[in-house]
Amino acid sequence: MTFPITRQRRLRTNEAIRRMVRETELSINDLIYPIFVRNGLDVKLEIPSMPGAYHFSIDALAKEVDEVRRLGIPAVLLFGLPANKDEYGSEAYAAEGIVQRAVRAIKTEAPNLIVITDVCLCEYTSHGHCGVVEGNKVVNDKSVELIARTALSHAEAGADIVAPSDMMDGRVAAIRETLDESGFVDTAIMAYSAKYASAFYGPFRDAADSAPQFGDRKSYQMDPANRREAIREIALDLEEGADIVMVKPALSYLDIISDARSISDIPIAAYNVSGEYSMVKAAAANGWIDEQRVVMEILTSIKRAGADIILTYHAKDVANWLGELKISS
Ligand code: PBG
Repeated sequence: MTFPITRQRRLRTNEAIRRMVRETELSINDLIYPIFVRNGLDVKLEIPSMPGAYHFSIDALAKEVDEVRRLGIPAVLLFGLPANKDEYGSEAYAAEGIVQRAVRAIKTEAPNLIVITDVCLCEYTSHGHCGVVEGNKVVNDKSVELIARTALSHAEAGADIVAPSDMMDGRVAAIRETLDESGFVDTAIMAYSAKYASAFYGPFRDAADSAPQFGDRKSYQMDPANRREAIREIALDLEEGADIVMVKPALSYLDIISDARSISDIPIAAYNVSGEYSMVKAAAANGWIDEQRVVMEILTSIKRAGADIILTYHAKDVANWLGELKISS
């Protein structure tokens, strides 16, 4: 049946009818808010390349965490800036490390807020790579040992979910085994499964002071040109025991999110990364785009592609906007 019997515009006549037939709805429940913690007292420092995102000292976290909780955002993702870096990234797995202390502080302040920790070495190593360096190489198996140790120390501090972002082979299985041996059978793993070697992490590397001091991450993170390989990465992480799999970045990788959805029944997360955030912020600051509409469109497209969970620096703004929408409709 075609025109004039069929008129696609009938169901677009007004907002009420558009709401009835809307296929994808963004919810506060979908959001994870990333937070950067550092040493010091009473620190809340804006990250120059990420307007609206901050470094917090642990004592200054309480207010931020309380706001996140009141907005109804279910989870935060923690990144740490250590006091000292060394070749083996030892503060990453120190019981008194910055993230471990932050986890304990947040769990005391807001016990029901889900605390997720980014498990990686790059912020903690002097060379800025995500693993152990020998010669000019990032060696896999020794890195996995330290990654698993880091995950365990986060679980001991009280993390609900650990999120390995290093892209070493076999790390999900090693983390699961290490956690289980120590009795942390209920600590979940959200694996950065299809993580690409992306220029969109640029602002984050300033924020986390984690740029590699030599070379790049292309020997462990995926080639942006590859699609089938992502399916393989996700399948392996599922076999190794991941509870949630992630695609990262999000916006240039919607096809990968869609593929992930089609091969797995478990929750899919997508990381709306720093560069995606900063581009929107810069254009909005110049008055070139409508920030709220663009952010909602981007996040809706990530969900439409198949993501259940979205990690985004826009989370607090989105929670506020969704709240306002509810009141006005
Ligand atoms: C650590 C890590 C990175 C991001 C999350 N975890 C940086 C990287 O791999 O270089 C990027 C987050 C962002 O850009 O928002 N390995």
